[in-house]
Amino acid sequence: MAPSKQDAAFFEDCCRGLLAFSEVQSMRGFLQHGCVSTLEHSLSVAWNSFALCRRLGLSVDERSLIRGALLHDFFLYDWHEKSCGPGAWPHGFTHPGAALQNASRLFQLTAREKNVIESHMWPLTLRKIPRCREAAVVCLVDKVCSIAETLRLRRPGAGYEPRWNSLIRSCLH
Ligand SMILES: [Fe+2]
Ligand SMILES: [Fe+2]
Repeated sequence: MAPSKQDAAFFEDCCRGLLAFSEVQSMRGFLQHGCVSTLEHSLSVAWNSFALCRRLGLSVDERSLIRGALLHDFFLYDWHEKSCGPGAWPHGFTHPGAALQNASRLFQLTAREKNVIESHMWPLTLRKIPRCREAAVVCLVDKVCSIAETLRLRRPGAGYEPRWNSLIRSCLH
């Protein structure tokens, strides 16, 4: 969904405080799907969650939705390289907890932001249930974005060029 000027300005305002931290910027260095970095993926999930709520007229705490989505994969390692030793739970089960721990260490999080982060892999993480609209939306949009990123990258010569690319580019600078 292409952003209006006002929507883009609000989105950037919500992201600015988090993007000022080097730890958040370090997500550029970790690959999420194909050549999409974890920061690009997180910005994409944040934007699409926000745009979907606006489109549907859902009443949500938009700032918590965007900030929670931007931090939902704040686990800070390359999950392709990190091996889970014998008996350890795989990345899919553990990274929401790692992301919440990292985010809580750096930021004062609202209850909704915490729920967005910890429940985004539900139903994989059975007991971490989305308990607010913000978390339910991010849980859904994360799956759609992940599938879209993976499928898009399967096409020969395809790059990561979503329609809201210019907004994401401006957040990345
Ligand atoms: Fe995730
Ligand atoms: Fe994600």
